[in-house]
Amino acid sequence: MASFSSAAVPSAAPATTNKTNTLPPSPLFSKTSSHRFKTHANQTLRFKISCNAAANDDDKSLNNSEILNLTPKRSPDMQNVDRRNLLLGIGGLYGAANYMTSIPSAFAAPITAPDNISDCIAANAGISDKKDAARTLACCPPVLSESAPKRFVLPKGAVTRVRPAAQRVTDEYLAKYNEALQKMRDLPDDDPRSFKQQAMIHCAYCNGSYRQKEQDGKPRKEIQIHNSWLFFPFHRWYLYFYERILGKLIDDPKFAIPYWNWDSPTGMTIPAMFEPDPAKGDPRKNPIFNAYRDAKHLPPVVVDIDYNGKERGASCIDQISINLAAMYKQMISSATDPISFFGGEYKAGDDPVNMGSPLIGSIESGCHTAVHRWVGNSRMPNNEDMGNFYSAGYDPIFYAHHANVDRMWKIWKGLGIKGHHDPTSEDWLEASYVFYDENKELVRVYNKDCVDTEPMGYEYETSRIPWSRNRPIPRTKKPKIAARSAGRVRKVEDVKFPLKLDQTVKVLVKRPAVNRTKEDKEKATEVLMVNGVRFDGEKFVKFDVFVNDKDNVPATTAADSEFAGSFAQLPHNRSSEKMMMMSGARFGITELLEDLKAEDDEYVVVSLVPRTGCEDVTVSEIKIELVPIV
Ligand code: C2O
Repeated sequence: MASFSSAAVPSAAPATTNKTNTLPPSPLFSKTSSHRFKTHANQTLRFKISCNAAANDDDKSLNNSEILNLTPKRSPDMQNVDRRNLLLGIGGLYGAANYMTSIPSAFAAPITAPDNISDCIAANAGISDKKDAARTLACCPPVLSESAPKRFVLPKGAVTRVRPAAQRVTDEYLAKYNEALQKMRDLPDDDPRSFKQQAMIHCAYCNGSYRQKEQDGKPRKEIQIHNSWLFFPFHRWYLYFYERILGKLIDDPKFAIPYWNWDSPTGMTIPAMFEPDPAKGDPRKNPIFNAYRDAKHLPPVVVDIDYNGKERGASCIDQISINLAAMYKQMISSATDPISFFGGEYKAGDDPVNMGSPLIGSIESGCHTAVHRWVGNSRMPNNEDMGNFYSAGYDPIFYAHHANVDRMWKIWKGLGIKGHHDPTSEDWLEASYVFYDENKELVRVYNKDCVDTEPMGYEYETSRIPWSRNRPIPRTKKPKIAARSAGRVRKVEDVKFPLKLDQTVKVLVKRPAVNRTKEDKEKATEVLMVNGVRFDGEKFVKFDVFVNDKDNVPATTAADSEFAGSFAQLPHNRSSEKMMMMSGARFGITELLEDLKAEDDEYVVVSLVPRTGCEDVTVSEIKIELVPIV
């Protein structure tokens, strides 16, 4: 049994090895080990985790019994981070960006959901009879009045709602949660607060029910809340009202929804609270029951937050290492600027369908999409519920999953790293959506009112963030990879785009600068951009991006230093016709290049490795740019 303080958590990075698929156990999680450690507040936390690792064995057990003497605390997650360590190699001290004071511009063009919700496109009805759809595609909310939505004003007051980690909830909490959810399910379907209507909100905003306000008489473009910087704020508001409605139904204004703590080993299985105990009566009568989940992924199977659509067959310990490494990349090393983290700019008049949506942020593309797909039932025609956007909201676990995604937004901003701040543009701050609140009142909400959780009256129970020190250790240090590949790998300027991704693609990409000094790196982050990714919106699509990978022993997972990140998309399932969509991704690679000793190389080798659904994917541009850190 090891004893250590949180300020001295050892790096969980796997040690150097030449084999790609056998990661050594991270020191944090040796087989059947139990740790005690102290938090900054000198509280003793204990947890026990035992990985009886057996690859390809569905019965392998992660005996994930956390000892429940953890008192919920109201402190931001960042207090668990050792900032000195985080700042190593990343850059200077945090300068708070003054984004809230930007001057409104007369030319701002924020995405604005329509005032009139009866305007919701009934066209979806035309495809509601899609034969194999388990849930309806007619997702418009009921129209209760003809008056325009009121501008929503956050109730004043202290933080009252503390969202607990799902794996640690008490029986008392669980009883409340179940009661609230049952009441929500019992509301008539045409009540906008009913579970069904709540589920359909997701489908309406994702599957093409709303059009933007008219722009210069041009045809009104669709609203899409994925694949761009609307992703975090839209879902934050969505959960806000879902939580307020549940609280109202049980008359408890302090009620808070749980978060699925999949970024921490103690939370890396489907939380027990979402799997009714058959010993306690017919599970189908339990409000948390959902029939559409992948039976292969029920507890104690460890979640794969880099899910490729098939079983990885990794041992439990290896899977945990991969997950922590993926979190580190998505939260720290590749999410070095607001666009990489939030997703691309998306403004009124932009056409996400025909012109292509901007680009997807690191968390949305990474753990968010992977967990969705991993939970959804692979035997259902559209991987309902969680595996497809149109049906995801029907699984109560959706809201716990998104609470953790939301928590990542808060943590990312709180890491104390320069450049980690919200978008400052009016086009983002003024973007707005329309929801029904807990009183069935139609309200309009703005991004600018959801940038921090405290004014919204909630926060997250603290959990450790063990991935925060997970900078991977390179397998080997082989400089000059690009120089040695010249002749075998084409330079990007000699490649004809669009490039097909039906097989692995490797290109040499020129860097904008070499041998950047520490000061240079504090001023700008080096970003690898994969633009104009065209994909089939009906498919689960994923490809991984590696830098300076070796031909003989290719890197395979996020736990390898060469891994820059992934591009992944859940099916949008808008119609039965094939629908091509366009997006893009970008990855900060400053740290990666340091790790691989490629700092003085003029070119790097970029590999795009298709994982699933990439048969008809094409990419129109690959480049590296310096993005100023402000
Ligand atoms: Cu709106 Cu998890 O997606």
